Amino acid sequence: MPTENAQPPFPRPKTRVAVLISGSGTNMASLIAAGQAADAPYQVAVVVSNIAEVAGLDKARAAGVEALTVEHKPFGKDREAHERAIDALLVERNIEVIALAGYMRLLTPWLVQKWAGRMLNIHPSLLPLYPGLNTHARAIEAGDLEAGCTVHVVTEGVDEGPVLGQARVPILPGDTPDALAERVKAAEHSLYPQTLAAFVAR
Ligand code: GRF
Repeated sequence: MPTENAQPPFPRPKTRVAVLISGSGTNMASLIAAGQAADAPYQVAVVVSNIAEVAGLDKARAAGVEALTVEHKPFGKDREAHERAIDALLVERNIEVIALAGYMRLLTPWLVQKWAGRMLNIHPSLLPLYPGLNTHARAIEAGDLEAGCTVHVVTEGVDEGPVLGQARVPILPGDTPDALAERVKAAEHSLYPQTLAAFVAR
């Protein structure tokens, strides 16, 4: 007789995650690697780039993950049509969660609403500080003593959704935006997989 606390006989299947990128995909690579651990609660099932031949696509394939390009250019100003093309690929692959990782397109309300509560982003600042671009230069310019990164749920406002996790790094005397970016990136590569794992296991 199963008791009330009995564990299911099989482990829960891994949540199927799509990672959207536009470039180097270092966060994507850390998400893939962590998801490939036997006990990870998620797996990266597909990577989609809006730009052809970016380094992230090669990294995904080298890790054994399907990597697709859906270029935005042929869709002109119709951003929603571009997103619908991506969305169709994700639906075909039974994707449950989207992780944006350096995906450099503004999203339409259509995509955000369709994936509400199931789409995460990583941003290279301690939100709500410095939404948008050039976060590291702005933090240095402001004389901040620390910087960091934030994983948040995606909502319609840019870089505005509920915060799921943050990591902090010091800003050192003489830091350049590039030096700070490198320090923050190292923190991103731990924060994103950990936060995504906690999110899907919740
Ligand atoms: C990261 O800094 C991330 O915070 C931001 O875009 C950058 C992507 O870098 N959203 P990478 O392609 O993962 O190296």
